[in-house]
Amino acid sequence: MHSVSYRANALVTFSLTILAFICAIASLTDNFNSPSPTANVQILNVNRFQKRPNGDDEVALTLDISADLQSLFTWNTKQVFVFLAAEYSTPKNSLNQVSLWDGIIPTRDNAKFTIKAYNKYKFIDQGSNLRGRDFNLTLHWHVMPKTGKMFADKLVLPGFRLPESYR
Ligand SMILES: *[C@@H]1O[C@H](CO)[C@@H](O)[C@H](O)[C@H]1NC(C)=O
Repeated sequence: MHSVSYRANALVTFSLTILAFICAIASLTDNFNSPSPTANVQILNVNRFQKRPNGDDEVALTLDISADLQSLFTWNTKQVFVFLAAEYSTPKNSLNQVSLWDGIIPTRDNAKFTIKAYNKYKFIDQGSNLRGRDFNLTLHWHVMPKTGKMFADKLVLPGFRLPESYR
Protein backbone atom coordinates (compact mmCIF):
# COMPACT_ATOMS: atom_id res chain seq x y z
CA MET A 1 0.00 0.00 0.00
CA HIS A 2 1.28 3.49 -0.86
CA SER A 3 2.00 5.91 1.92
CA VAL A 4 0.23 9.25 2.15
CA SER A 5 3.40 11.17 1.26
CA TYR A 6 3.96 9.04 -1.83
CA ARG A 7 0.43 9.88 -2.97
CA ALA A 8 0.86 13.56 -2.24
CA ASN A 9 4.09 13.56 -4.16
CA ALA A 10 2.47 11.84 -7.13
CA LEU A 11 -0.35 14.36 -7.07
CA VAL A 12 2.04 17.32 -7.07
CA THR A 13 4.05 15.83 -9.91
CA PHE A 14 0.88 15.25 -11.88
CA SER A 15 -0.34 18.82 -11.24
CA LEU A 16 3.00 20.30 -12.30
CA THR A 17 2.95 18.25 -15.50
CA ILE A 18 -0.53 19.57 -16.33
CA LEU A 19 0.54 23.13 -15.49
CA ALA A 20 3.62 22.89 -17.72
CA PHE A 21 1.43 21.53 -20.49
CA ILE A 22 -1.07 24.42 -20.15
CA CYS A 23 1.78 26.95 -20.21
CA ALA A 24 3.20 25.37 -23.36
CA ILE A 25 -0.22 25.49 -25.05
CA ALA A 26 -0.71 29.09 -23.93
CA SER A 27 2.53 30.33 -25.44
CA LEU A 28 1.98 28.18 -28.53
CA THR A 29 -1.49 29.55 -29.26
CA ASP A 30 -0.04 33.05 -28.85
CA ASN A 31 2.04 32.40 -31.97
CA PHE A 32 -1.14 32.01 -34.00
CA ASN A 33 -2.38 35.45 -33.08
CA SER A 34 -1.39 37.84 -35.86
CA PRO A 35 -2.07 41.27 -34.40
CA SER A 36 -2.95 44.28 -36.54
CA PRO A 37 -2.46 47.35 -34.36
CA THR A 38 -3.15 50.80 -35.75
CA ALA A 39 -1.87 54.17 -34.61
CA ASN A 40 -2.05 57.78 -35.61
CA VAL A 41 -0.09 60.65 -34.11
CA GLN A 42 -0.46 64.33 -34.80
CA ILE A 43 1.73 67.14 -33.63
CA LEU A 44 -0.78 69.66 -32.35
CA ASN A 45 1.81 72.27 -31.47
CA VAL A 46 5.51 73.00 -31.24
CA ASN A 47 5.50 74.69 -27.85
CA ARG A 48 9.18 75.47 -27.70
CA PHE A 49 12.10 75.05 -30.07
CA GLN A 50 15.40 76.39 -28.87
CA LYS A 51 19.08 75.89 -28.45
CA ARG A 52 20.09 74.97 -24.90
CA PRO A 53 23.03 76.77 -23.24
CA ASN A 54 25.30 73.85 -24.16
CA GLY A 55 24.32 74.13 -27.83
CA ASP A 56 21.97 71.14 -28.05
CA ASP A 57 18.60 71.62 -29.73
CA GLU A 58 15.49 71.03 -27.65
CA VAL A 59 11.88 70.74 -28.80
CA ALA A 60 8.72 70.63 -26.72
CA LEU A 61 5.64 69.26 -28.46
CA THR A 62 1.95 68.72 -27.85
CA LEU A 63 0.98 65.37 -29.31
CA ASP A 64 -2.31 63.75 -30.12
CA ILE A 65 -1.77 60.00 -29.90
CA SER A 66 -4.48 57.59 -30.88
CA ALA A 67 -3.97 53.87 -31.12
CA ASP A 68 -5.86 50.63 -31.23
CA LEU A 69 -3.63 47.91 -29.79
CA GLN A 70 -6.45 45.61 -28.73
CA SER A 71 -5.39 42.89 -31.15
CA LEU A 72 -2.13 42.50 -29.20
CA PHE A 73 -4.09 41.11 -26.27
CA THR A 74 -4.73 37.41 -26.00
CA TRP A 75 -5.74 35.43 -22.92
CA ASN A 76 -2.02 34.97 -22.29
CA THR A 77 -1.19 38.71 -22.25
CA LYS A 78 -0.18 40.21 -18.94
CA GLN A 79 0.41 43.77 -20.10
CA VAL A 80 1.76 45.79 -23.00
CA PHE A 81 4.48 48.42 -22.72
CA VAL A 82 4.35 51.11 -25.42
CA PHE A 83 6.64 53.97 -26.25
CA LEU A 84 6.65 56.66 -28.89
CA ALA A 85 10.01 57.67 -30.32
CA ALA A 86 11.22 60.30 -32.73
CA GLU A 87 13.65 58.79 -35.23
CA TYR A 88 15.79 60.84 -37.58
CA SER A 89 19.15 60.81 -39.25
CA THR A 90 21.91 63.38 -39.00
CA PRO A 91 25.23 63.68 -40.86
CA LYS A 92 26.94 61.96 -37.89
CA ASN A 93 24.42 59.22 -37.08
CA SER A 94 22.18 57.41 -39.53
CA LEU A 95 19.69 56.69 -36.75
CA ASN A 96 18.94 58.88 -33.76
CA GLN A 97 16.14 57.68 -31.54
CA VAL A 98 14.60 59.81 -28.82
CA SER A 99 11.83 58.43 -26.65
CA LEU A 100 9.09 61.03 -26.18
CA TRP A 101 6.33 59.24 -24.35
CA ASP A 102 5.55 55.83 -22.90
CA GLY A 103 2.88 53.93 -21.08
CA ILE A 104 1.79 50.57 -19.73
CA ILE A 105 -1.47 49.12 -20.98
CA PRO A 106 -2.83 46.71 -18.39
CA THR A 107 -5.90 45.37 -20.20
CA ARG A 108 -7.48 44.99 -23.61
CA ASP A 109 -10.10 47.61 -22.67
CA ASN A 110 -7.34 50.19 -22.18
CA ALA A 111 -5.67 49.30 -25.47
CA LYS A 112 -7.81 51.58 -27.62
CA PHE A 113 -7.16 55.18 -26.67
CA THR A 114 -6.77 58.76 -27.80
CA ILE A 115 -4.74 61.09 -25.63
CA LYS A 116 -3.35 64.55 -25.82
CA ALA A 117 0.11 64.62 -24.27
CA TYR A 118 3.23 66.70 -23.98
CA ASN A 119 6.44 64.86 -24.66
CA LYS A 120 7.05 63.19 -21.29
CA TYR A 121 10.79 62.88 -21.99
CA LYS A 122 12.83 65.72 -23.41
CA PHE A 123 13.30 65.80 -27.16
CA ILE A 124 16.95 66.84 -27.23
CA ASP A 125 19.44 66.40 -30.04
CA GLN A 126 23.13 65.99 -29.22
CA GLY A 127 23.99 68.98 -31.35
CA SER A 128 22.08 71.56 -33.31
CA ASN A 129 20.64 69.33 -35.99
CA LEU A 130 16.90 69.76 -35.56
CA ARG A 131 16.04 72.85 -37.63
CA GLY A 132 14.06 71.75 -40.69
CA ARG A 133 14.79 68.11 -39.77
CA ASP A 134 12.56 65.39 -41.25
CA PHE A 135 11.70 62.70 -38.76
CA ASN A 136 9.51 59.69 -38.16
CA LEU A 137 7.46 58.92 -35.12
CA THR A 138 7.51 55.25 -34.26
CA LEU A 139 5.21 53.51 -31.85
CA HIS A 140 6.99 50.53 -30.30
CA TRP A 141 5.36 47.87 -28.16
CA HIS A 142 6.57 45.05 -25.96
CA VAL A 143 3.97 42.43 -25.20
CA MET A 144 4.57 40.77 -21.85
CA PRO A 145 2.90 37.38 -21.67
CA LYS A 146 1.74 35.55 -18.57
CA THR A 147 3.88 32.67 -19.76
CA GLY A 148 6.27 32.27 -22.67
CA LYS A 149 8.38 34.68 -24.66
CA MET A 150 8.01 38.44 -24.77
CA PHE A 151 7.65 39.93 -28.22
CA ALA A 152 8.15 43.40 -29.60
CA ASP A 153 7.22 45.22 -32.76
CA LYS A 154 6.54 48.76 -33.98
CA LEU A 155 4.61 50.96 -36.36
CA VAL A 156 6.41 53.69 -38.29
CA LEU A 157 4.56 56.94 -38.86
CA PRO A 158 6.73 58.79 -41.36
CA GLY A 159 6.72 62.28 -42.73
CA PHE A 160 7.15 64.74 -39.84
CA ARG A 161 9.28 67.83 -40.06
CA LEU A 162 10.55 70.33 -37.50
CA PRO A 163 10.35 74.11 -38.10
CA GLU A 164 13.16 75.84 -39.98
CA SER A 165 13.87 78.23 -37.13
CA TYR A 166 13.84 78.40 -33.32
CA ARG A 167 10.78 79.86 -31.66
C1 LIG B 1 11.39 57.02 -41.84
O1 LIG B 1 10.43 56.18 -42.46
C2 LIG B 1 10.68 55.94 -43.83
C3 LIG B 1 9.49 55.17 -44.37
O2 LIG B 1 9.19 54.06 -43.58
C4 LIG B 1 12.00 55.21 -43.98
O3 LIG B 1 12.29 54.99 -45.35
C5 LIG B 1 13.11 56.03 -43.35
O4 LIG B 1 14.32 55.30 -43.39
C6 LIG B 1 12.78 56.37 -41.92
N1 LIG B 1 13.79 57.25 -41.37
C7 LIG B 1 14.50 56.97 -40.28
C8 LIG B 1 15.51 57.94 -39.86
O5 LIG B 1 14.34 55.93 -39.63
